[in-house]
This record gives sequence, C-alpha cells and structure tokens, in this order.
Amino acid sequence: MKETVKTKRRNLRHLVPPVDIAGRIERSPRMDRPIRVVAKAVRRRIGPGRLRDLLHGVPTGKPLHPPLTDLTLGCWLATAVLDLTGADPRAARALLVTGIGGAVPTAAAGIVDWSSLHREQQRVGFVHAITNLVALGLYAGSLTLRLAGDDRRGRLLSFAGLGIAGLGGYLGGHLAYRQAAGANHAESVTHLVPLGWHDLCEVKDLPDGRPVARRLGYIDLFVLRVGEGVTVLADNCSHLAGPLHQGRLVSESGVTCVVCPWHGSTFRLTDGTVAHGPATAPQPYFETRIRRDGVLQVRPAQV
Ligand code: FES
Repeated sequence: MKETVKTKRRNLRHLVPPVDIAGRIERSPRMDRPIRVVAKAVRRRIGPGRLRDLLHGVPTGKPLHPPLTDLTLGCWLATAVLDLTGADPRAARALLVTGIGGAVPTAAAGIVDWSSLHREQQRVGFVHAITNLVALGLYAGSLTLRLAGDDRRGRLLSFAGLGIAGLGGYLGGHLAYRQAAGANHAESVTHLVPLGWHDLCEVKDLPDGRPVARRLGYIDLFVLRVGEGVTVLADNCSHLAGPLHQGRLVSESGVTCVVCPWHGSTFRLTDGTVAHGPATAPQPYFETRIRRDGVLQVRPAQV
C-alpha cells in the first residue's frame, strides 16, 4: 500500500501543468525548419500592401484575428449546445457551416500575424495553427456526415473538434497573454512619462536627418532632427518593441515615415499613426519645443 502511494506521488511530480506544456513548445527548436519555410512563404505570398494590412487589422487599429476567433469558436460551441439539447438539427448545421466559413478569414488573419513574430512565439503559434486545422477537419467531416444523414456520428466528430479547438484556444491564450503577441508594446509609455515639459538634450547634439535614440527617465525615445524641426516618438515599436531609431526613413503619400527594422511596421512621423502593419497601435508621439538656451523639451502629445 505504502509503495503505491509513493509511486503515485512520484508520478504526480512528473505531471506537467498546461502552462509548462506551452512553455516547452516555446523553447523547443524541433519545428524551426518548417516554421522558417512556412513563415517565408506567407510573407512572400501576402507581401506588404493593403491585403496584408487589412488582415493585420491596421484599418481598425486592432488586431483582426482575435474577434474572428470569437465568431468561429462561438458558432462551434453553440453547435455543441444544440447537439446536447437535441434541438433542431438544421440549426446546428447552420451554426456549423458558419463556423467553418468563419475559420477561413480567421486562419488568414492569424497566419499573417504569425509570420511576423519572434521565433518562440512562432513555435507556439505553429502548434496552435495545427490543432485548429485538425479541429477544422473534424468539423468538415462532421458536416459531411450530417448532410449524409448520419447525425449521431456527425455530432461525435463535432465534440471531438470542440475538444481540439479548446486546446488550440489554450495555446492562443498563451501566445497572446504570456508571450504578448498582438499586444501593444508601447502602451506603458504614457504611464511612465509625467505630463508637462521635460528637458531631453541639446538640439546642437542631434545629427541632421538621422534618427537617434535618447533616454527620458525610464523610456527610450526616437529623435529625428531635420533642420530646425525635431520629431520625437517612443522608440520601442508598438508591435514587438523593436528599436525604431535603427529603422529606415521613407515617404508614404508625401508623409515621412519610419520603418521598424524588425518586421517592417511603418509609422508616420507627423503623429505616430500606423501606415503599415504588423503594428496596429500607433506609436506614442511627443510634442517638442526648443528653449532659448538650445535645450530640446518634450511632452507626451494629448491624444
Ligand atoms: S517590432 Fe515588429 S514591426 Fe517593429
């Protein structure tokens, strides 16, 4: 009896809580080669432009993938409820079809976001995508069976699909909340800089036409002087905190922008708004003024 309890305890120690399963995926380089190939193919097929920006969610200023997942998973969950309560099978079928239809744009938005992530995030995202593809396959099989009149086995496949989609949702949660993919990485800036004007540096120390980084308290700032004018943004990109001062300057529809060196997010220097993703949140922008003694002062712009 004692031996049995000991063995049980030993076995329990080997149980891995779910968060560590995601952590192990995050740290494992096993799938790096297919990840590299797929990410490159996605970036090549859906290159910079309107479609890519739309799928990132740039026009709305919010990532598009999360609300689409709500649509798909919501329909599939409702299908399960109808199946369990013995409701009209036509209603369950309609929800099932809507969920399958919603999965296509959901996957498109997700894979475009995924192609511009750090490798650790891509590892979790890759498994997240595979589990959701399996769930989609199970739901497609369920629909086929239901249409063929085999409702009982169709329902069973749907339940299996829901279980797998739940696992995919758990990995998606890890990706979004633990690994902060899709979060605004410049959100804290406004909390770290008190209102009012702050001395930053002497204007004569700033090179003309080349961005540099300057530190204000806890935060890094992107500073660009062109002649007498100075533009200041938060330096850490809102996408994944890349250093904007190392980026390229480009002109977009006559407006000067900076392109992040990590994944190509493009921000307008006039106000920090996003011209191109993957970032969807604007870059915090600072107002500037130059004191008589040549000291550059900045303050967070009132939004
Ligand atoms: S960190 Fe990804 S685009 Fe800037």
